[in-house]
Amino acid sequence: MRNLLEITDFTTQEIDTLIATAIDIIKEPKRYSEACKGKKLATLFYEPSTRTRLSFTAAMMELGGNVLGFSDAAASSVSKGEVVADTVRVVENFADIIAMRHNKEGAPWVASQFASIPIINAGDGGHCHPTQTLTDMLTIYRHKGRFSGLTIGFCGDLLYGRTVHSLAKAMGRYEGIKFVFISPKELKIPDYLRKEIEKHGYQYIETTNLEDAMPSLDILYMTRVQKERFDSEAEYNKLKDSFILDMHKLHNAQKDMIILHPLPRVNEIAYEVDADPRALYFEQVLNGKFIRMALIYTLLRWAEEHKESPKQPIVEVSPLKCKNARCISATEMVSSLCTTSENGDRHCFYCDTILK
Ligand code: CP
Repeated sequence: MRNLLEITDFTTQEIDTLIATAIDIIKEPKRYSEACKGKKLATLFYEPSTRTRLSFTAAMMELGGNVLGFSDAAASSVSKGEVVADTVRVVENFADIIAMRHNKEGAPWVASQFASIPIINAGDGGHCHPTQTLTDMLTIYRHKGRFSGLTIGFCGDLLYGRTVHSLAKAMGRYEGIKFVFISPKELKIPDYLRKEIEKHGYQYIETTNLEDAMPSLDILYMTRVQKERFDSEAEYNKLKDSFILDMHKLHNAQKDMIILHPLPRVNEIAYEVDADPRALYFEQVLNGKFIRMALIYTLLRWAEEHKESPKQPIVEVSPLKCKNARCISATEMVSSLCTTSENGDRHCFYCDTILK
């Protein structure tokens, strides 16, 4: 069964094909208006969302399918203590595909171990957000016409900004990509991601200065400081306004640099920037619907080709413990906690935290 748990579940060729499908949908929406007729998408959202949940819903409706689910875990039996493993084994009786957002890192991986229908990760804690990455890539492609040879500046909360983690993994696979990671030192990219970038030999620098980095950038990817991931409000308040993009800071940017943001924005882009033709963050939202149409259509087609029987319950529970308190393994039963990378580091299978 093919899922989309993290962006590297898809090869670059498969991503290129998805983008081509999305562009075909944009050109000829009528051809796809009944492509998923009779199919149902379950949106299981344990954490708030505007764009992702509504764009999944709109995407399935425009493919002729139906949508069910919940947008608040408190309104489901999760509030009575039901675990992800049980919820997905219930929901697979009612739906053909699941899009799951969860505050616990790795929750969609647990879902995929129990469900016999495709699982799409719609954002898991501060870990990954692969469908936002596909959205970002469609936007980049529509404006730049390529992925290779671009310099991308990621600015803001690079520690908890899951969209950054997924986009860096995806874009790094294209030739000649350079990353400029711009953040306060407290919010630098997580160690596991830095190690992965170094393992693949991707070019990157880390800096705290946005204006110095600006002239080199083809893409500026702004992010919100993720208040909900901080243990202390005081620490959040100290860091929340680290970077505020305004017209003055754009004075030395390239004329065709594009400005992306996964949204929601809080304070990190001044409203005056919205009128600049380089600001594409609202166009990104629309691209999110088209790429999710392409994704649902593709995963359902693959699932038809390789139908699975209901999975056997996992009986072996991992004796290991992940040190990440935000990992799903801290609160729910999991197996196969540990995976070893080429350089010998042991990682948590669910959230990628390096286990010493
Ligand atoms: N970009 C994004 O994930 O937005 P939502 O949290 O509104 O879904």
